[in-house]
Parts: sequence; C-alpha cells; structure tokens
Amino acid sequence: MKNTFGLAGLAVMGENLVLNIESRGFSVSVYNRTYAKTEKFMAGRARGKNITGFESVKSFVESLESPRRIMMMLKAGDPVDQFIDQLIPYLEEGDIIIDGGNSNFHDTIRRLEYVEQKGFRFIGSGVSGGEEGALKGPSIMPGGSVAAWPYLEPVFMAAAAKVDDGTPCCAWMGPGGSGHFVKMVHNGIEYGDMQLICEAYHFMKEIMGMDNNEIHSTFARWNKGELSSYLIEITAEIMAFRDQDGFAVVDRVLDAAGQKGTGKWTVDASLDYGIPLSLISESVFARCLSSFKELRTEASKVLSGDVAKFAGDRPALLEDLGKALYCAKIISYTQGFGLLQAASEEYGWQLNYADIARIWRGGCIIRSAFLDRIAEAYTENPKLANVLLAPYFKEQLVGSQMSLRRVVATALMAGIPMPCHSAAINYFDGLRTQRLPANLLQAQRDYFGAHTYERVDKPRGEWFHTNWTGRGGTTTSTSYSK
Ligand code: 6PG
Repeated sequence: MKNTFGLAGLAVMGENLVLNIESRGFSVSVYNRTYAKTEKFMAGRARGKNITGFESVKSFVESLESPRRIMMMLKAGDPVDQFIDQLIPYLEEGDIIIDGGNSNFHDTIRRLEYVEQKGFRFIGSGVSGGEEGALKGPSIMPGGSVAAWPYLEPVFMAAAAKVDDGTPCCAWMGPGGSGHFVKMVHNGIEYGDMQLICEAYHFMKEIMGMDNNEIHSTFARWNKGELSSYLIEITAEIMAFRDQDGFAVVDRVLDAAGQKGTGKWTVDASLDYGIPLSLISESVFARCLSSFKELRTEASKVLSGDVAKFAGDRPALLEDLGKALYCAKIISYTQGFGLLQAASEEYGWQLNYADIARIWRGGCIIRSAFLDRIAEAYTENPKLANVLLAPYFKEQLVGSQMSLRRVVATALMAGIPMPCHSAAINYFDGLRTQRLPANLLQAQRDYFGAHTYERVDKPRGEWFHTNWTGRGGTTTSTSYSK
C-alpha cells in the first residue's frame, strides 16, 4: 500500500503539517535530511499514526501513489533547489513537487519552469499560521502548475483552517509565482499590522502613562470590536504575561526587532511595480532602526528635544487611538491589495482579491474579522481600483480620519515615533489631493534635465519643454534617449 502524501523537512512547520494532514485521513510519508530527526518524530509524535518515515529520498519517493504529491517544508533558498534536484531522478511524468516554505516568488517562477520542463508539476504555496496553524489548520495559498491543483485540492482543503461558516482558508491563487507572491504580501501586511499595534502600545505607555494591565485591558477590549484579530488577541495576552517573579515578560524583552526578509521582499516588489507601500515600508525600517540599540542609546543622551506632555482628555484620546489604529490598518491593506493588483496585471495571474481576503480570515497570522469587509468590497466590485473607494471603507476614513490626525499630531508633539500611523495619514491625504505639488517637481526636472512635462491645458500624453534659463537648447532628454 502506497501513501497518499509525502512531506520533506521535519522542522516545526513540517512536523505539524504532517500531523494535521494525517489527522484528516491521509497516509503520509516523511523524509528529513538528518535521519535521526525522522526517527525521533516516528518514535514520538508520529507514533501509532498513519505516517511512515524514510531514510533515503529514493524510498521516500517510491512509497507514494501516482501522481506523487511531495511537499517540501524547507528553509527558503538553496536547500529548496538542492532538494528538487535530489527528487527529480526518482520522479515520473506528472508528479507534483510542492514548495510550502517562504520562498521568494522569483525563485518559484524559475523553479516552476525548471520542473515543468522536465515533465513534472510544481506548486509554490504560501502556508501561514505558525506552529499552531500548521497543526490545527493554516491558511494555504497555492499557485503554479494548474494541472496539479485537482490532485492537491482534497488534501489542502481538508488541512486548511475553516472559518465559522465552514469555508476552508485555501483557494487556488493562480499560475506562476502567484501563491508565494500572495504569501509574501500577507507577510508584508503582517509586518504593518504588528508595527501599528506596537505604535499604539508605545503611545499608551509613553504618552498616556498607562501600565501593562491597563494596556492589556485596552487591547482585550479592542479585540471584541472592529479591531478583533489574532495579533490584537496575542498582544493582549503578552501584556498580561508575567515571569515567575511576577515581573512582566514584555518589559524584559530587548527592543531590537529581527526579521527574515519577507517584509523587505514586499517592499522590493512595491518599488519594482511603482506601488506606494509606505506603511509596510515604514514597518520594515522601524525594525531596522530598532536593531541599532546601541546607537539609539547613545543618541538618546545627546539628541534631546523639548517635547510636550499630554494634558488633555485621556478617555477621548484612547478612543481616538483605537479609531486611528483601525484607519491605519485599512490604509495598510489598501496599499497591500494595490500591490497584489499591480503584480497580477504584470504577470497576468488574474488574482481573485475576494478569495485572497477570504482565505486570510482564518488560520493565518493576520486573520481578522476585518478581512470580511475586504472580501465584501471585492465581491461587490472585483475591479475596485482602490480599497478606500469602496463604500464601507470610504465611510470609515471620512468618519474617523480626525482621530488618526489627532493621534499622529499628539505623538509628533510628544516626540514619540509613529512611522506607520504617519505614513497612513500621509497616503490618505496624498490620495485625496486633487492637485499635488508634482507640477513643481516636473518643472524642476524639465529645468535641469529637459525631462519634459505634460500641461493642464493640453491632453495627457503630449510632452512639452520650456527653456527655463534662456541658455538651454531645444533638445529634450526624451529625444536624447532615442
Ligand atoms: C506566517 C508567518 C511566517 C513568518 C514569521 C516570521 O504566516 O506564519 O508570516 O511565515 O515567517 O512570522 O517572520 P519574520 O521573522 O520576518 O518576522
């Protein structure tokens, strides 16, 4: 009897995913580079289950039904390429390799081509939810060889998280590197959400002088309303968590953030496609700045500022803070979905934004009630140009923008950094400004470099050059480049 599903890479995510898939009634073959790890797993958590461990890649591959479904849960980068090359000699036409790690979508596009050329199929799939999600049900974002999807669908749908109405948090994303691109944007949004929450915490602590218990209660309260989400929920728990000696663990954690790169990749992509992703970019930079702990300590001693202490209406300000966080979150998702739209057009993926919002409602790190609203907006109008133009979001921003302004202004005056909240209000104001100062910018470009400009009194696409100094010629930079 052959097994239904193969999984290679028994690190935290891999191990838990195997147990999840097996628990849905599938037999699973497992492989790990270090066999001792496989043996440990087989003797431990996999004991008595419909799971078989293999020492060689060959026997692992041969233990599977055709077409073989082999999922890699490996560290992104070279290990993935190396394992694909180890698998290939034992595969048969139509077999499916799935990369469930956090691979860069450019690598996925390259690997897909490589694997398909050899007659096999390749899926790059985002899997989100951390350890617990992998075990109980993650959010799964598969994309790649479309012909492979019918063979994977039963396994992935069964293993994925289910939201309250029973919908699985998994859907086919599209061809090429779409699955990993969507997961990358998920992670970028995760960075933005986390930084926004951290800024709200900093605001409560430093400006409002709230203690951990009060901050805990505020997050717990917010988790019952429109901000309800996994990240707010765990933040409330973190605020209440005490060491054995009763001291708050959060106060013992060093303020130097780490990152593995998916946030940076999201920002890279936003620059590639020219999509303003200012909030997520600031969240990546905030992690970078935090990591210069020693430099910040030094600077804190010399770069003093005459900052104002808040002396206004505290309950009203706390109310503002919750609304500001919600507005900024809406703007972050607006930017994130803008990036998805740009990539979908660039690669012809035809992403379904409503589906993406729906499969992020459960299982993954950014899961929240709020994603229902995004799904609704795209269901109503699949061609929505900007999330802020959907009726619900327009109403929220128009109604609560003053809260965001007051919070950012208060933080600025108090000298407390809120880069992501500030980026949010700046994007909002930029988007709703009919005439930006880019007229001057174009004039500057034309002045020093004859880069030409369009005119308000002429149709778009007609380009003009002015001899600003009386010294320049009539040759424009566009004609130079021809
Ligand atoms: C998930 C997470 C996960 C991510 C970690 C760490 O969806 O389960 O996004 O994939 O790798 O959260 O990311 P950083 O180390 O970059 O914070």
